[in-house]
Amino acid sequence: MKRIMFVCLGNICRSPMAEFVFKDLIKKKNIEHKYIVASSATSSDEIYMGVGNPVYPPAKEDLKKHGISCEGKRAVQLTVKDYEKYDLFVCMDNSNVKNTIRIFNGDPQNKVKLLLDYACGGEVADPWYYGHFDKTYKDVLTGCTALLGALEESE
Ligand code: 4NP
Repeated sequence: MKRIMFVCLGNICRSPMAEFVFKDLIKKKNIEHKYIVASSATSSDEIYMGVGNPVYPPAKEDLKKHGISCEGKRAVQLTVKDYEKYDLFVCMDNSNVKNTIRIFNGDPQNKVKLLLDYACGGEVADPWYYGHFDKTYKDVLTGCTALLGALEESE
């Protein structure tokens, strides 16, 4: 069983997209039982009085366009306790990597990764600031496909 946590800044756009795209990929391959998949935020920006916001409507729409539901998902913030609960923390951009390592006070087991390092390199641009949800979806799908390939190969 591998435990994967996708991480972004707000947990309402990129990391939920990665969570549900990855879940869709493993479902299609009939290997859902081999993975625990979640997503979280480095910031508390999308959480009010302990309750997280749902996935940002354009991101939700984009997933729906590709036949993927993210119903029920609400933003949660990454905590130091998550370090032992997951095997990999797959971040969308370099500032997420930096903030994730800050939340964990280090990364002694080298669990914190950048999604697109599994593929072409680079960062998944934040659509909250840059728009282009279709480009985000494409980057997330490319990264998740490469990540799953790497994990299945490493068995
Ligand atoms: P995400 O996008 O990190 O892909 O979920 C963002 C969502 C919200 C904010 C920033 C980024 N915000 O500042 O509230």
